Amino acid sequence: MDACRGKKIVVGICGGIAAYKAAYIVSKLAQSGADVQVIMTRAACRFVTPLTLESLSHRRVFTDLFRDDPLAHVELAHTADLFVLMPATYNIIGKLAHGIADDFLTTTLAATRAPVLVVPAMESQMYTNPLLQENRKRLSELGYRFLEPETGRLASGRQGIGRFPSEEKILQAIEEILTERSLLRGRRVLVTAGPTREMLDPMRCITNKSSGKMGYALAEQARDLGAERVCLISGPTQLEPPAGVECVRVESAQEMRDAVLERFAEFDLILMAAAVADWRPKRAFAQKLKKSSARELTIVLEKTPDILAELGRRKKKDQILVGFAAETEKLLEHARQKLKEKNLDLVVANDITAPGAGPEVETNIVTLLYRDGRSETLPCMTKRQLAREILHRIASLKT
Ligand code: CTP
Repeated sequence: MDACRGKKIVVGICGGIAAYKAAYIVSKLAQSGADVQVIMTRAACRFVTPLTLESLSHRRVFTDLFRDDPLAHVELAHTADLFVLMPATYNIIGKLAHGIADDFLTTTLAATRAPVLVVPAMESQMYTNPLLQENRKRLSELGYRFLEPETGRLASGRQGIGRFPSEEKILQAIEEILTERSLLRGRRVLVTAGPTREMLDPMRCITNKSSGKMGYALAEQARDLGAERVCLISGPTQLEPPAGVECVRVESAQEMRDAVLERFAEFDLILMAAAVADWRPKRAFAQKLKKSSARELTIVLEKTPDILAELGRRKKKDQILVGFAAETEKLLEHARQKLKEKNLDLVVANDITAPGAGPEVETNIVTLLYRDGRSETLPCMTKRQLAREILHRIASLKT
């Protein structure tokens, strides 16, 4: 339980019979040196008393948004290293999935960016209810972590799925999340994202369908895995940059190149997720082209700088360079060629025509190709989940 020492763990206890088991885990966490702050819902207080949890955590327990310190929820949200919801009821999972914040626990959860571990426990009929499963899926996609309940004897005396997991499983999950938070400790991560826009005249441009979601997810996850510094160089997108990440906005491939090259030497993990335009109009017109000016229009295109290839040439020994290969045919062959030609450590290859992949969808299916010849195909997952998987693998890559 080393990872718990000195960490601020906020435990949200909800109204289920397993609340008494949660009390035991609170005690274990406090013994392992964590600073444990308990929040109880009104219903939780019917199952165990705040006094029990106060005695075990050695801290005052919060139960009421208005009676307790009115700013405490904001303070807790900001300072927590981890939230654990146990037992997580049907009700709290529904509220979280729909953005309802109507008590101390849910307002604190609404305000936090710390990881949240959800430990559901309830009757199987409730657990297998499609609404609960849909809420669970939505929350997982948003980055909430779930611990699967066990199958066995339930509080009602029936058998089924929904039992509160064992103490070891819960403590292990907590330990894993806290350890993961330091996976990229001391690493500086540079990510590019989105399309670029190559202007033809003040109104028209050449661009592509990239949404930027993959790059933004990588920046967000790099932050969450404890990177010392994360910089996101983004082409035009509709997305909000993740909090705590430096964001540099650019338009054209040339601007992206300049922004990346200016910073490249300061970073040790560089992920080029941007869909950089390969071509730009050779001539950009200062005034809007009038349709009456010609019967036909020929636009001559010239190549843009290949940023990644340039980085590959300048790369220092301790830098890790990751490229993305969006292909429509001969996926592995083309991706392998990019890996080699651009001097990459890893290429993330995806067939943009496959269902569940491509620029406009939330999910992606990729094959990772490593410099040493290894390859690994990952199942279809959200771009956020994929970002996490990619960063986990990069963290252990030797330069
Ligand atoms: N890339 C880049 N600069 C460019 C073009 C691409 O840095 N001018 C980077 C992309 O960010 C990506 C990788 O190179 O990480 C591969 O991009 P992709 O468009 O798949 O391949 P290209 O190298 O452009 O080759 P092609 O379009 O012929 O497949």
